[in-house]
Amino acid sequence: MNILVIGGAGYIGSHAVYELNDAGHQVTILDNFSTGLRENVDARAELVEGDVQDLTLLSRILAGNGGSDGSPFDSVFHFAALKAAGESMTDPEIYTSSNLVATMELLNMMVRHNVKNFVFSSSAATYGEPEYLPIDENHPQNPINYYGYTKLVIEQTLSWYSRLRGLRYAALRYFNAAGYDTQGRITGKEQNPANLLPIVMEAASGQRKSMQVFGNDYPTRDGTCIRDYIHVNDLATAHVRSMEYLKEKDEDLCLNLATGKGYTVLEVIKEAEKVSGRTVPYKITDRRPGDPAELVAASTRALETIGWKARHSDVSQIVESMWHIYK
Ligand SMILES: NC(=O)c1ccc[n+]([C@@H]2O[C@H](COP(=O)([O-])OP(=O)(O)OC[C@H]3O[C@@H](n4cnc5c(N)ncnc54)[C@H](O)[C@@H]3O)[C@@H](O)[C@H]2O)c1
Repeated sequence: MNILVIGGAGYIGSHAVYELNDAGHQVTILDNFSTGLRENVDARAELVEGDVQDLTLLSRILAGNGGSDGSPFDSVFHFAALKAAGESMTDPEIYTSSNLVATMELLNMMVRHNVKNFVFSSSAATYGEPEYLPIDENHPQNPINYYGYTKLVIEQTLSWYSRLRGLRYAALRYFNAAGYDTQGRITGKEQNPANLLPIVMEAASGQRKSMQVFGNDYPTRDGTCIRDYIHVNDLATAHVRSMEYLKEKDEDLCLNLATGKGYTVLEVIKEAEKVSGRTVPYKITDRRPGDPAELVAASTRALETIGWKARHSDVSQIVESMWHIYK
């Protein structure tokens, strides 16, 4: 199939591109390299350097050559977005443009060019404070930051476009993406990471003097927050299977992508120390506002629909695949 991957040079997108190429699909990447890395682009894919908000360019891509054989695109994978929850509260306007306006224009353009299938990077942030654990897909969606709100609004728009325009979509709600390609093909490190695992890796490798642990007085086994970490190769597999499901079943999907198992911040740090043989220097600081004590999710629906469950997401596998890059 011919697939357009927007944001295919980014952290998760580059892994999805490798998985698509491995499965024999023809991939075109559209990326403006605002955070993506050239070294992570799979050479088997066609690369268009540009901005998804350039509607002339987007129209040209969608109208024309879906891939090397000139047939139209079957599906669009959309990874391009801003993703820092804290920043979305201080600079909401840029989240409005990148995450809302750009995605809605993209959907209009897909409708205009009759491209029917859309695989969307949604987020655990659409749920907000957990009312029960593990979080399943029926859990109320009440985001507590503007980033999560942008993802929820796109999910709702997708549901309308499905009814009104026959668009088929998969909204994939990732929990905490982590790890690097288990085959070692993707080696460009995320710049200025805001997630725990790359920060722990930077602290272990000496790239960062010390790291902060935000609060050790939560009602958890060691007082630090518990999160559900999902390996990026597992995410990539779920994307490809979701796309196949949309084509075969002609039904939409909203899926959690998680393991159901959580690790505390200190457990992650200990694992990194074990794998690296280094000390991870850290300081306990105050809690951050809006950080729930525990976030873990059930992915039963992903198992039942696309036959997916995490295979590489044990914390030791995640840390090993990252240390390979950071050491
Ligand atoms: N990383 C996580 O833990 C996580 C968790 C939940 C959801 N998500 C979502 O997954 C998606 C991908 O996240 P990621 O971690 O790979 O981020 P990333 O920043 O590494 O990737 C985004 C990619 O999109 C490109 N891009 C950004 N704006 C663009 C534009 N206007 N035009 C063209 N290209 C553009 C960037 O250059 C980059 O290659 C995002 O939508 C994010 O909100 C990520």
